[in-house]
Amino acid sequence: MRRMVAETRLHPADLILPAFVREGITEPVPIQAMPGVVQHTRDTLRKAAAEAVEAGVSGIMLFGVPEDEKKDAAGTAGTDPDGILQVAVRDVRAEVGDELVIMSDLCLDEYTDHGHCGVLDADGRVDNDATLERYAEMAQVQADAGVHVVGPSGMMDGQVGVVRDALDTIGKEDVSILAYTAKYSSAFYGPFREAVGSSLKGDRKTYQQDPANLRESLRELALDLEEGADMVMVKPAGPYLDVVAKVAESVDVPVAAYQISGEYAMVEAAAEKGWIDRDRAIFETLTGIRRAGAQMILTYWATEVAQKLSAARV
Ligand code: PBG
Repeated sequence: MRRMVAETRLHPADLILPAFVREGITEPVPIQAMPGVVQHTRDTLRKAAAEAVEAGVSGIMLFGVPEDEKKDAAGTAGTDPDGILQVAVRDVRAEVGDELVIMSDLCLDEYTDHGHCGVLDADGRVDNDATLERYAEMAQVQADAGVHVVGPSGMMDGQVGVVRDALDTIGKEDVSILAYTAKYSSAFYGPFREAVGSSLKGDRKTYQQDPANLRESLRELALDLEEGADMVMVKPAGPYLDVVAKVAESVDVPVAAYQISGEYAMVEAAAEKGWIDRDRAIFETLTGIRRAGAQMILTYWATEVAQKLSAARV
């Protein structure tokens, strides 16, 4: 009876798998703070993509981790057509074609030696408008590599409009934009910083949102839609379900939520200690995010959950 009357259901197609690919490694490297998640080699990434397709996952969000010596102040590796992310996009596209929506993180933090999401001005502050020029270039090389969707995640003002223009200019009108619309300055990104080998020293408070604010997200939302966002995202997910709900009721574009590294790590760590039932906790967090109104969920458990959904009577 509960199954019959359930108001919210998870489906494999709701799930998008974020995945890391690291340059210059021959074996996958485990991420300590994210048990079960690795930095992939080019080869194991292809396998993970094929496995995600098999499980019914609908998309993959790719993050590139360049070799340390390739990081510089401008994040050059992020716009190199042979940079690790671009190479990985081509690999995954060759492996799965259009069976998986291939998305790419459009941000500089993985490639800058200072670890910020943009380039810096003479005072060491993130320079919004100079960063936009870099994002325009990134959008073009990622589109040329074959992504279906770019995900600008740097929270620079005007990023969606600039990316849209850059894509249209080179005839990539059909590449969509998943805008990181409400991205909060969160402690829960901690494990991700290990995952991408980030060199960040300070914080991202000058460009990411204050966890105290909800109305501000609605303003970011209006701007992103006006600039051409095709889909919008709230991130993190769990601590911001009210934001997800508000955004979902305000728009008619697809809404995504990103269950981030720290949300993953909390459940895995507590489960490892035997303090919670891992599988129930995972399904409960994801169901909560769906119930709040997110149609798509980025989660590191995507493939596993999709497999379980196909096998079980849910
Ligand atoms: C920025 C980016 C971050 C995440 C996704 N894109 C890190 C940040 O803003 O510091 C975090 C994802 C996660 O924690 O799982 N490129």
